[in-house]
Amino acid sequence: MRKPPRLPPEALAPYQHEMPFRGPLPAIDWAALFGNANPVEVEVGFGKGLFLTTAATANPATNYFGVEIIRKYQLLAANRMARRALANVRVACGDGKLILRDAVPPGSVQAVHVYFPDPWWKTRHHKRRLFVPEFAQAAERALRPGGKLLVATDVADYAAMVRETVAGHTGLKELPPPEEKPPSHDMDYLTNFERKFRQEGRTIHRMAYERG
Ligand SMILES: C[S@@+](CC[C@H](N)C(=O)[O-])C[C@H]1O[C@@H](n2cnc3c(N)ncnc32)[C@H](O)[C@@H]1O
Repeated sequence: MRKPPRLPPEALAPYQHEMPFRGPLPAIDWAALFGNANPVEVEVGFGKGLFLTTAATANPATNYFGVEIIRKYQLLAANRMARRALANVRVACGDGKLILRDAVPPGSVQAVHVYFPDPWWKTRHHKRRLFVPEFAQAAERALRPGGKLLVATDVADYAAMVRETVAGHTGLKELPPPEEKPPSHDMDYLTNFERKFRQEGRTIHRMAYERG
């Protein structure tokens, strides 16, 4: 995606949900945030926002809430949503682990998406990885019965860690992974990182889980 010119702050504000960086996180009221009672899906670590843009355009009756720890990406995504007038997306800046654990009401979302989380390659940095037991448990708690956790990574050992973490620390049921289809146009990929890695010919590990 080419970078479109930045809209003024007042045009971006309706697409941004501001969360405090310190102190307790207030619970999010989805109906108040989106102005409707449609189902909600959460993406943690949306980067440049390709998944949110594509999914929200394809499914206008689903609400999408993106969480990204880097402010610049929150602004970039808000700009994209505002340019497309995508009324069913809100983007927040903060730590997805804390937001899922403390601000997302239990049993309130129909899917949690985690695509290409930072691998933190060095063993001594593994503790910085997003997908730790606390995160998996927060994702499970956030899902409504029948809700899905969807994860993709190009890193085989990260995929193994996700499987072990989910199996060892949650009651989520593993589902067959989503199928990989050939792209029908240049941006027909799940995310920007998926696009880059598939174009490089790397294997993508996909995982899907369901809350019973
Ligand atoms: C490798 S990038 C992938 C971006 C996007 N999902 C994609 O596939 O194109 C990982 C993203 O996760 C974000 N991130 C890392 N830790 C996070 C956290 N604790 N909460 C929210 N976002 C996080 C990073 O800032 C980065 O944008």
